[in-house]
Amino acid sequence: MQVNVSDQNLNEIQADALCLVLFEGEGLSEVMQELDGHLQGELTDLLTLKEFKGKLYETIVVYTHGLIKSPRIILVGAGKKEEYESPRLTKNIAGAAARRAVKLGVKKLASLLPQQEATAGVIEGVILANYDAGIYKSKKDNSKIEELILVGADPKAVKEATSTAEAINWARHLISEPANVMTPKKIADEARKIARDYKLGIEVIDEKEAAKRKMGAFLAIAQGSDIPSYMLVLRYKSPRVSKTTLGIVGKGITFDTGGISIKPSSKMHDMKMDMSGAAAMLAIMKLVGETKPKVNIIGIAPVTENMPSGKASRPGDVVKSLSGKTIEILNTDAEGRVVMSDAFTYVQKLGANKIFELSTLTGAAAVALGPEAAAILGKPDSWVKLVIDAAASVGERLWQLPIYAEHKELLKSDIADMGNIPAVRSADVIAGAVFLGEFVNKGVDWVHIDIGATAWFDSEKPYLAKGPSGSGIGAALSLIKRLSSES
Ligand code: BES
Ligand code: ZN
Ligand code: ZN
Repeated sequence: MQVNVSDQNLNEIQADALCLVLFEGEGLSEVMQELDGHLQGELTDLLTLKEFKGKLYETIVVYTHGLIKSPRIILVGAGKKEEYESPRLTKNIAGAAARRAVKLGVKKLASLLPQQEATAGVIEGVILANYDAGIYKSKKDNSKIEELILVGADPKAVKEATSTAEAINWARHLISEPANVMTPKKIADEARKIARDYKLGIEVIDEKEAAKRKMGAFLAIAQGSDIPSYMLVLRYKSPRVSKTTLGIVGKGITFDTGGISIKPSSKMHDMKMDMSGAAAMLAIMKLVGETKPKVNIIGIAPVTENMPSGKASRPGDVVKSLSGKTIEILNTDAEGRVVMSDAFTYVQKLGANKIFELSTLTGAAAVALGPEAAAILGKPDSWVKLVIDAAASVGERLWQLPIYAEHKELLKSDIADMGNIPAVRSADVIAGAVFLGEFVNKGVDWVHIDIGATAWFDSEKPYLAKGPSGSGIGAALSLIKRLSSES
């Protein structure tokens, strides 16, 4: 989408629709009053007749009958002023207006910026709302916003927000693609393309090479699939010496059947989204290549299917991970942590001293928090807090769950160093983090973010289509920006 800046008066702008935001119970702002003058008081009438209340995500379309240059206005509600939360709601409100615009067939949308700080939120909201997952429909609805005009925005902020949002949509596209298309090989090709475009270092470790390097945990899952699997690594080196090397680790299961511990068939098709962490990693590395931050960054993702077959790991199998620690695979459906353990070990071997990891690790994340927040766990607390803060500053909610010393007991195995699930099922989200924590070296800061409930929306939101959300990408980019400006 093209995003352009304008300083024309609202009545002069020629777009398919103008978007205006109103809080619940609040009157028109000065600029809106001026516009209302041109509209012979139509906006005032709407408010006094209470046809539009300004409730959160409420929208109404007003036709302007040639009184101003744009043929219609989309009014969108921002809810109660005291409940307003920036930038999360800025994004969502802009998204709600944009989705209404998309449904009207608007190609050119203009919006007034409530304030400069809202630039990124509005752009991201509109670009994310404009995404449609119906990529294989023969008859395209064909309605997409092609141009957004922002009145009074700063062009530099516009450029940055636009490329961030486009990268998030690119990741959402990878996630939407079915597992017969978005194979590990296809994802490896995407990684190669990013490495080429931005001159990043790359390693595509195939199964033969992984066996040589003793990535036994990764291979224990990969061996069940008939198609090739890869451990993908992208490396970015800061132009300035930096003591921070951030590892961005993403789970890349292109399809999770559960393996021999097979999943029930209802909703199994959604498990094409189990590579959302890997897609996020690629999008993040794309933007890292574009923005060149002052910290070293290594992106890593194990990409493989999790299939049941004659070659698949069985429940009870014991495997030796790259770290040397042995794992009893009690449940082959808890495959994410198994493949990720080797990614953790390898990224630290390459020099990562801070870890930011995204995985669709558990269904229990949805039980605990639903799609409104992703669970975050890690050590030390200061690193967890830093990530939560960075995420909040771009409107992403992360909610910390604890890791107590007692939780370590969960993964005791009779035969190996650890099991991959608790013998008696409990604290699923925490158990996942405890498992991963076993593969973190002393002195390395780490967070595990369980995007199991946030990566994929089961139903449409007023501001976002059903399907992939791009969860975690904005948080990582915001974190990288902070680390970069500190060093
Ligand atoms: N990929 C799933 C988790 C998942 C489920 C993500 C539904 C999004 C929606 C993961 O590999 C898995 O199957 N986890 C198991 C772990 C359990 C066996 C401890 C789960 O959550 O049931
Ligand atoms: Zn699974
Ligand atoms: Zn999985």
